[in-house]
Amino acid sequence: MSTHTPRILVLDEDRIMQDSLSQFLRREGYVVSTTDSPDAAVAKMESGQIDILLADLNIAGVKPGAFLRDIRRSHPQVVVILLTGYGSIEQAVDAIKAGAFDYLTKPIIDDEIRVTVEKAARQHALLFENYALRQQLDSRFGLENLIGRDAKVQKIVDVVNAVAEGRTTVLMTGESGTGKSLLARGIHQRSPRRDRPFIEISCGALPETLLESELFGHVKGSFTGAVSDKPGRFLSADGGTIFLDEINSASPAMQVKLLRVLQERKFEPVGSTQTTTVDVRVVLASNCDLQQLVAEQTFRQDLYYRINVVNIRMPSLRDRKGDIPLLAMHFLRLYCKEVGREIIGFTEAALAALTAYAWPGNVRELENAVEHSVVLSKRPQIDLSDLPETLHGVTGYDPFAEPRAALDGLFNGLLNDPMPLERALEMPERTIIKAALKRNNYNRQATASELDINRTTLYKKMRKYKLDVGGEEE
Ligand SMILES: Nc1ncnc2c1ncn2[C@@H]1O[C@H](COP(=O)(O)OP(=O)(O)OP(=O)(O)O)[C@@H](O)[C@H]1O
Ligand SMILES: [Mg+2]
Repeated sequence: MSTHTPRILVLDEDRIMQDSLSQFLRREGYVVSTTDSPDAAVAKMESGQIDILLADLNIAGVKPGAFLRDIRRSHPQVVVILLTGYGSIEQAVDAIKAGAFDYLTKPIIDDEIRVTVEKAARQHALLFENYALRQQLDSRFGLENLIGRDAKVQKIVDVVNAVAEGRTTVLMTGESGTGKSLLARGIHQRSPRRDRPFIEISCGALPETLLESELFGHVKGSFTGAVSDKPGRFLSADGGTIFLDEINSASPAMQVKLLRVLQERKFEPVGSTQTTTVDVRVVLASNCDLQQLVAEQTFRQDLYYRINVVNIRMPSLRDRKGDIPLLAMHFLRLYCKEVGREIIGFTEAALAALTAYAWPGNVRELENAVEHSVVLSKRPQIDLSDLPETLHGVTGYDPFAEPRAALDGLFNGLLNDPMPLERALEMPERTIIKAALKRNNYNRQATASELDINRTTLYKKMRKYKLDVGGEEE
């Protein structure tokens, strides 16, 4: 989130209006500047100094619709509040369509402007968050296309970088949709073999006999249907990488053959006595625990030792929730590009639901959810209602989750301990404010918006409860 005090520009030809608005907003704690020139306003936005624009566009020579659309395009992070004359509701509606965030009707009432500007500040912080996510995606880290800042992912990237160079066998385990196939390709791309073939084959997809000939090839006439010689995938992958997916479903006979090829890089095609030698890097994936299969004696222990040289465990998405916004933004960009849409990001409610959901289908399910939303959304931001229905019931955002436990304890005490109501309410109030301050890094603007009180009220209460500087009280 943006942590600075929101900077507001007031654009109005009326000097008295400029003065009264800027005085009021400064008292509310904002940084305020004023101008009567649309060109000067644009220049100021260009220099990146403005977060919120409060504008009366009833200025000769200005077409409000075009002006607002321009801002939306060139300065999407600026939140615009339109000031309109009394009774020009139509102008206000057009303005919202053109990209204004909200409007205020003159004469302007203190409470209205306070609430509207606070909402705009929240919106700005959110846009900033979406923007920051995009920036993060732009600054490359780790492997191409493998998105993740979580330490578990970064560690995987380190391992891949360390082993990519050689021919070491790599085993990946993890739930479906965690990125095993993506990573297998990443290992190949990072290796000196990148210009040679990358061959992917799923051991669970073919019956045993077919799999054997598919992998190792066969000679003409070796079995019914073998009408000509076939080289097999291991040979096709010579010089490159072979990715054996779902290795856990390989049959016992197949396991013996695999063991040999891993040990000696040698095999015989089906129906042949001639030995073939290949140079392949073998990458394998399993979506269940192979050690367990060894214990159950359905997977050969010697083969397990042979392939368990470098074992990469792909974390489930719910175990790296911090990466969800980043991944969501990555897929948003991807699908917007694909279908030619312009969506700037996610609303707070949508992000909260995405983060709270358990994602049994991991990254694949998240990718599908975002694609679904991009196709269906009609707005410039993905909202909760655009997400698949499974996410609608997920209530992610709960600012009071943290102090709830503390409050439970307090209430129990209060119920047994008679005292005046006002005093009884002080303790829970202090706990709530303290937790909110902590959660917002002692940013008072953010804390006040979260608690839906104005900043003056927050200051007073902080003073009253001695929650002042940095919170290192007590
Ligand atoms: N870290 C990531 N960053 C970006 N995209 C990812 C990431 N992890 C997975 N994906 C994407 O999610 C989808 C599913 O990933 P992938 O097919 O690699 O999973 P998998 O573990 O091989 O699943 P399965 O076990 O079902 O084969 C793919 O479209 C992939 O590009
Ligand atoms: Mg896969």
